Amino acid sequence: MKINSAEFVISNQDVSKCPTNRLPEYAFIGRSNVGKSSLINMITDYKNLAKTSGRPGKTQLINHFLINKNWYLVDLPGYGYARVSKSSKAKFQKFITKYFEQREQLVCGFVLVDVRHEPQKIDLEFMEYLGESGIPFSIIFTKADKLKPNALDRNIDLYKQVLLNGIWEEVPPYFVTSSSNKMGRDELLAYIDGINQSMNNDFK
Ligand code: GTP
Ligand code: MG
Repeated sequence: MKINSAEFVISNQDVSKCPTNRLPEYAFIGRSNVGKSSLINMITDYKNLAKTSGRPGKTQLINHFLINKNWYLVDLPGYGYARVSKSSKAKFQKFITKYFEQREQLVCGFVLVDVRHEPQKIDLEFMEYLGESGIPFSIIFTKADKLKPNALDRNIDLYKQVLLNGIWEEVPPYFVTSSSNKMGRDELLAYIDGINQSMNNDFK
């Protein structure tokens, strides 16, 4: 799929104020600093569409980006950022949970995982929560440029094993990406395109 246009539409904390048209949307969720906003820029090929930062906790709202005028990418705040105060953390969690539970336009959540690290409880628990809530999701491994090929394969294999040893009977669809060198971009766009096509406008 070619990206012809990508535009910022709205930011808010309130799921009822998200765009009301019935276009399919794909949300990026994961720990703070995992690379959600960078991946939105990489996929769309716009440098500064989503705001990124070396410091965790940059994205604090639900951000809708309209792509090719017919689907949305949604950038969400990260979870698991210790330095955000307790009250704002609780607030985050509440509106993120509300977003996942109430947003009918959400066709797939992408859970981003930093491929350099061992599987983290908070990510596994979030996937479990999505599974239990019947929300379709896929995994995106990020920052693949930071590992040598062997280490990359090893970490992905380990992740799969941990998933299969946990509650999952099969490994969810997954993508290996790098926002620095665009690895995984074509695969991810083809996947989204496939889902968009399969909905065949029934959605609207
Ligand atoms: P929050 O909004 O705070 O939740 O973070 P985020 O998940 O949106 O992360 P963001 O995209 O802001 O990126 C965090 C940092 O990681 C930035 O310094 C990025 O440059 C860096 N980064 C993101 N993706 C990659 C990648 O694929 N490779 C490398 N090397 N660095 C990356
Ligand atoms: Mg962000």
